[in-house]
Amino acid sequence: MFRARQLAAASVAGGDDTGWFEKLYAEGEAGTSVVPWVLGEPNESLVEWAAGPDGTRRLDGRGKRALIVGCGTGDDAEVLAGLGFAVTGFDIAPTAIAAARRLHPDSAVRYQVADLLDLPPEWSGAFDLVVEIYTVQPLFGEARARALAALHGPVAPGGTLLVISWAADDESPERDPAMMPWPLTGAELDAAAGPLRARRIERFTGRVPPLPRWRAEFARGPAALHRPADSRRLTASTTRPAARRHPSARHRPTARVRRGSRGQRDGRAWMVAYHGWLSP
Ligand SMILES: C[S@@+](CC[C@H](N)C(=O)[O-])C[C@H]1O[C@@H](n2cnc3c(N)ncnc32)[C@H](O)[C@@H]1O
Repeated sequence: MFRARQLAAASVAGGDDTGWFEKLYAEGEAGTSVVPWVLGEPNESLVEWAAGPDGTRRLDGRGKRALIVGCGTGDDAEVLAGLGFAVTGFDIAPTAIAAARRLHPDSAVRYQVADLLDLPPEWSGAFDLVVEIYTVQPLFGEARARALAALHGPVAPGGTLLVISWAADDESPERDPAMMPWPLTGAELDAAAGPLRARRIERFTGRVPPLPRWRAEFARGPAALHRPADSRRLTASTTRPAARRHPSARHRPTARVRRGSRGQRDGRAWMVAYHGWLSP
């Protein structure tokens, strides 16, 4: 993580918000640095989510389009392609995209260089599933705010946005520019949702490293890719009578997050929460 943090801090100081990713990948290719998030395996929280509640209802992507934001070397994109989705994976770093194509030579995934801060207009509302994993948390300042605001744009009517990230311990964290990544707050999840409805927000402790995580699912409109088996019970217990999004809620989401259930899964503490004012 050391070199990545060094490059990220230099970019924050120099006003180049995203150029350091390509530098790091290029150094990784040259063997002079390690790209700390390239593990050669998919994100386990995505795999678990795609398996459905209790692993019983595997996501069926046939006939659906998925977009993987900041796809890096492609392991998560390949998971969704394996479920039948027509997948586009994009990343700002050309070296990452070249590596993704090289590592998955027979892949059906369309890997391409693109910038979340300046998405192709034809992607607007075009994807049934948009997946963001750890792309926003290494961004700082204005780029971070713009990235959050851009996530919901490609979600089609009835589509889903899935955000997986590290979770901040409090809502006003001190962010040391030398300590990338900067975990997402609840308010930032809300910003990512934009006009979408929160379907399921989970906060749990990840395995490696054992730090708090978010897994948050948002929907545009009522249709669902797959609805958790217990969602009706949870929603019923958390829905407010006039469940309309309150404008002020955007600025103080954690005060109004209600706990739906608490349990133990795979030895990890976890919690499912619904933003009551966003429930159907
Ligand atoms: C921490 S890595 C995570 C990579 C991958 N999602 C994963 O979970 O392993 C962040 C990725 O987002 C990419 N990225 C950063 N800013 C981006 C932007 N504005 N548009 C597209 N990709 C971006 C980086 O190049 C990098 O591959």
